[in-house]
Amino acid sequence: MKIVSTSATADTGTTSIEAVRHWHRELPGDHRIGLVPTMGALHEGHLSLIRRARAECDQVALTIFVNPAQFGPGEDLESYPRTVEQDLEAAREVGVDLVWIGDRQELYPDGFSTHIELPQLAQRLCGASRPHFFAGVCLIVLKLFHIFAPDRAYFGDKDYQQRVIIECMVRDLDLDLEVVACPLIREPDGLALSSRNVHLDPAAREQALTLSSALFAAEQQWRSGLDSAQKIRDRALMELSGEVELDYFEVVDRNDLSALEVIDPKLGAVACLAATVGGVRLIDNIQLEPR
Ligand code: PAF
Repeated sequence: MKIVSTSATADTGTTSIEAVRHWHRELPGDHRIGLVPTMGALHEGHLSLIRRARAECDQVALTIFVNPAQFGPGEDLESYPRTVEQDLEAAREVGVDLVWIGDRQELYPDGFSTHIELPQLAQRLCGASRPHFFAGVCLIVLKLFHIFAPDRAYFGDKDYQQRVIIECMVRDLDLDLEVVACPLIREPDGLALSSRNVHLDPAAREQALTLSSALFAAEQQWRSGLDSAQKIRDRALMELSGEVELDYFEVVDRNDLSALEVIDPKLGAVACLAATVGGVRLIDNIQLEPR
């Protein structure tokens, strides 16, 4: 497994971005490249993306970079879990070809000033309380797409809104790659996997379980024939622990993420939520499949 980072390339006088481009140029032209962008602190969710990329591509590149552009003032940029050594071990085991560890100064040098303006769907759900968030995500993802020129890029549906927005960017900017959506992975007790889960103390973890319970209740209501988004939401919210600080719980259109009042059974919907539990911000969602 090749490891590319600014510290590893410093002696050669090249930047880590140049080293990736060099690696790319040396590959046979028909090699299909799969990119798995992450912020590290890898868990089974990330590993499932890598395994899928491994199965579908000739070369798998994993990126690790805690991207400051997607954190707002007072958010957890500094305390975001960083576990590079374990990540490298896990990447090796699962068969990654190249790991790139991003460097803040290289990616956002002094004078960096370009920003991406996003469509309305970036202001919905998480975008309402984190207005900077998706512009920061798209900025780094677009840079990664340019640096790696992948054929496929893998994103987990735990970050459903992120995946939909990235697909929109790829379409709108005619980027020549396929976004592969991979299923959300849960712990056996229902908690959606997230790098931030390590910050949950035992009490907060118990409370966090009520997030997935709320979503399972929503799905249950939908399956049993209810199509009023409001009623589904009301029933779901009954599951939430009183300790959970809810940011939003919304039943939205699967494509444009607009809030629904009534769900069309032929189209289905997605129920999404974000909440702070024990000081940790978590998101989760569940598909209400067409019925
Ligand atoms: O989903 C994430 O971990 C991040 O938002 C991403 C896509 C790696 C961009 O920093």
